[in-house]
Amino acid sequence: MSKNVAVIGYGVVGSGTVELFMKNRDAINKKIGRECDIKYILDLRDFPESPFADRIIHDFDTILNDDEIEVVAEVVGGTTFAYEYTKKLLAKGKSVVTSNKALVAAYGAELLQLAQDNGCSYLFEASVGGGIPIIRPLYKCLAGNEIQQISGILNGTTNFILSKMIKDQMSFEDALKLAQQLGYAEADPTADVEGEDACRKICILGSLVYGKHIYPEMVHKSGITRITLDDVEYAANAGYVIKLIASVKRLEDNSLSAIVCPRLVPKSNMLASVDDVYNAVSVTGDGVGDVLFYGQGAGKLPTASAVVGDIIDCLRHQGRSLGIHWEESKKDEKFVVRYKD
Ligand code: HSE
Repeated sequence: MSKNVAVIGYGVVGSGTVELFMKNRDAINKKIGRECDIKYILDLRDFPESPFADRIIHDFDTILNDDEIEVVAEVVGGTTFAYEYTKKLLAKGKSVVTSNKALVAAYGAELLQLAQDNGCSYLFEASVGGGIPIIRPLYKCLAGNEIQQISGILNGTTNFILSKMIKDQMSFEDALKLAQQLGYAEADPTADVEGEDACRKICILGSLVYGKHIYPEMVHKSGITRITLDDVEYAANAGYVIKLIASVKRLEDNSLSAIVCPRLVPKSNMLASVDDVYNAVSVTGDGVGDVLFYGQGAGKLPTASAVVGDIIDCLRHQGRSLGIHWEESKKDEKFVVRYKD
């Protein structure tokens, strides 16, 4: 038995990751072909009630300096500790998997390069679309295509809020409170409702398929805070629903157009029926045509599903998995057009 996995952060996604891994551990080990287990859970807090209380530690260096640890799930979020921890782990050749879209959107090119230089992996399937498989399909299965556009609903919290406003005439504030209670929203929900979270996700997808780091600062974004029940009703009477849509596409001059904003979606469009915390991503490739990815875009176990999938992938391939790489760029580079659509 190798106790070769560590989890950093025991919040919503971290506890879901541990729960799912331990629940399915026997089957997971068969898939990996060897006995693997979670050795450490790093958190500042103690969790005496948790069945995994004996694995809780408070010191990052214990993980960093333990040669048995092969894969670390960074589900602590943010770009301070998470960035420092991830760099140190990758520099030591330990693979890191994450749901942390803020970190990937800010430092993805650098961290992917670091993983490549040290013979390990940096995987982030959970960073976009929660439980929806989207990173691997785009990077592998659709690699033969020129991707013409990616667009969709990439934030569960705002989709949940808009759905509640549309279907139950719930106020924005009450729907946001409910989303927070259900564990969908970010620690600071401003990132959700102002479009920042969806922006980070479209930056990750755009960087992945177009090969150059798109920083969130390059993208025009507006959120849903100014949408009222009157707007929702007016749209409905005209045959539309309001959705927060994030999109990126290549223009004829090879620049990219990326934008996040609320849009009127005709009720006949498939995206109009994507409700609650569900996300949907539409991709158009020059070979495959249109493909739609759909599933739960936030929440404990859907997100944990993607994190655990990445852990398994690393353990199966001894860290050398996927080999995702994209070029670094400068934040003031003008290859992203902010308003053209
Ligand atoms: N706050 C995010 C959302 C969580 O609502 O989509 C999943 O990334």
